[in-house]
Amino acid sequence: MTDYLLAIDQGTTSTRTILFNRGGLTEASAQEEFEQHFPADGWVEHNPEDLWRTTLSTLQSVLESAGDKRSMIRALGMTNQRETTLVWDRQTGEPVYNAIVWQDRRTARFCDDLRRRKVEGWVHEKTGLLLDPYFSASKIRWILDNVDGVRERAQAGRLMFGTVDTYLIWKLTGGKRHVTDASNASRTLLFNIHTQQWDSALLDLFDIPMSMMPTVLDSASDFGTTDADVVGAELPIAGVAGDQQAALFGQCCFDIGMTKSTYGTGCFMVMNTGVLPVNSRHRLLTTVGYRLNGQVTYALEGSIFMAGATLQWLRDQIGFVAKAADSEAMAERVGADQHVYLVPAFTGLGAPHWDPNARAAIVGMTRDTGIDHIVTAGLQSVGYQTADLLGAMLDDGSASEVELRIDGGMAANDWAMQFLSDVTDTRVTRPVITETTALGAAMLAGLQVGVYQSTDELSALWQSEKRFEPAMDSEVRERLLTGWRRAVKATLP
Ligand code: G3P
Repeated sequence: MTDYLLAIDQGTTSTRTILFNRGGLTEASAQEEFEQHFPADGWVEHNPEDLWRTTLSTLQSVLESAGDKRSMIRALGMTNQRETTLVWDRQTGEPVYNAIVWQDRRTARFCDDLRRRKVEGWVHEKTGLLLDPYFSASKIRWILDNVDGVRERAQAGRLMFGTVDTYLIWKLTGGKRHVTDASNASRTLLFNIHTQQWDSALLDLFDIPMSMMPTVLDSASDFGTTDADVVGAELPIAGVAGDQQAALFGQCCFDIGMTKSTYGTGCFMVMNTGVLPVNSRHRLLTTVGYRLNGQVTYALEGSIFMAGATLQWLRDQIGFVAKAADSEAMAERVGADQHVYLVPAFTGLGAPHWDPNARAAIVGMTRDTGIDHIVTAGLQSVGYQTADLLGAMLDDGSASEVELRIDGGMAANDWAMQFLSDVTDTRVTRPVITETTALGAAMLAGLQVGVYQSTDELSALWQSEKRFEPAMDSEVRERLLTGWRRAVKATLP
C-alpha cells in the first residue's frame, strides 16, 4: 500500500495544503490568499477567521481531489508563519483580538524600555533571541493591556495563547488540544531553549499568566486528531514546525553545518548547529531547529530583509527590468566581476549589521554604467548579504564545513545562485522538490506515524536538481567583497 501525507502551510500572505506521496512529490494542492490589515502605522494584523477559513477550505479541497488516495493518507503535518500571536477564550473559542503578525512593530517602545532596564543579556541567555517586537511575548502583553477586560479574563484562567499552529490545531481538533512544538515555542521569547520549558521569570517579565500557555511537544508527536464533524475526516496531526525550521527539515539539513536559505521577499537562512546551542556574537538568533524524541537540534538563524524584493523594486519602482527572470540575461552580459554595488537597505539592514537607520544606495558607478550593471548589482546584493550571514555564522563557531541548500522563488535564477556559490566559496545545491516547507512538516508527521523510520531514510529520498560549485578566483572574490563592505559602510548613518 502506498502512503500519503498531508501538510498545511499557513503563511503570512496565503494558506496552502499539499498532498505528498511517500517520495515527497506533490499529488494535489490548494492555495488561498487572505487579506492583510494595517490598522495603524507599523501595525500588521490578520483576522483569525481568515486563517481558519483558508486552512479548512484548502484542506477540504485537497481531500476532495485526493480521490482514491484519501484512504491512504496516514497523517497531517502543520507548518506556519511564526511568532504571530493569537489569544482566544477557552470556553467560547472566540479570539479576543485579531492575530498580531510577526511584522508588527507596535511594541517597539515597550521593547526599548525593557532594553533600557538591561535585561536583554539575561533574556538572550534563556531564549537565544533579542528583545524585539518581532517575537510573541510583547504582542501577548499588548493584547492583555489594551483589550478591555482581557487581563482579568486571562488572570481567571479563561484565555489561551497560541502561535498560528496552536490556534489551528485547537480548531482542527474541535477545541480538544492546546499544544505547540518546540520550534514554534522557541520564537515566543517565553521559552527557555535550554530547559525546554516555559520560563516563569520570562512570563513574569512580560506579565503573562502561565495558564495561557500551550503544552510544548516534540516536532514529531501526537498533536491530536482532526475532528470529523469539523473537517469531514479523522486524521492524526503528527508533525509541527515553524515554517523556517520546517524548511530546514524538508531540506534534510540533519547534520552540523547543513544550512538552508529560502529566497522569497527576503531571505531566511537557518544552519543546523547540532545538539548544543551556539551563542552568536553577531546578534544572530539561536533557535530550536526541531525536537525529536526529546532531543533538541539547535540552529542559528539570520535574515535578510530584501532578496526577491530588490528585484521587485528594480521592476516596479524603477522599471529597469520588465520581469524578474530577464535579470539573468542582463547579468550574463555584464559578468560578476564588476564594480557597481546596490545595497538594498531600504528598510535598514538586518543581520549581521542590524542598523534600522541604514538606507539603500547604489555606489561605484562610472560613465559606462548602464541598466544592466545596476540590475546585476541587485542580483549580486543577494549573494553578498548571504555571504555576510554565512561569515557571521562561521565566525560564531557554528560549523567548520557548510553545505548550502536553497529554495524559494529566486533559487530558480541560475546566475544569482552561481554568484552565491562563488562569493560564499561554498557549494550551493538546489533540490528537485522545492516545496521544502510543507514537505518538512509532512516528513515530521511521516516519522511520527512510521511512514519513515529515520532521518537517514529521509536523507536518502532528498535529491539535488542542480549543484553550483564555486569557480571564482579567490583574488576576485576578495576584491568584490572588499568593495561590498565599503558600499555597506556608505549606507550607514
Ligand atoms: O518569522 C516569520 C516567518 O516565519 C514568516 O514566513 O514565509 O510566512 O513569510 P513567511
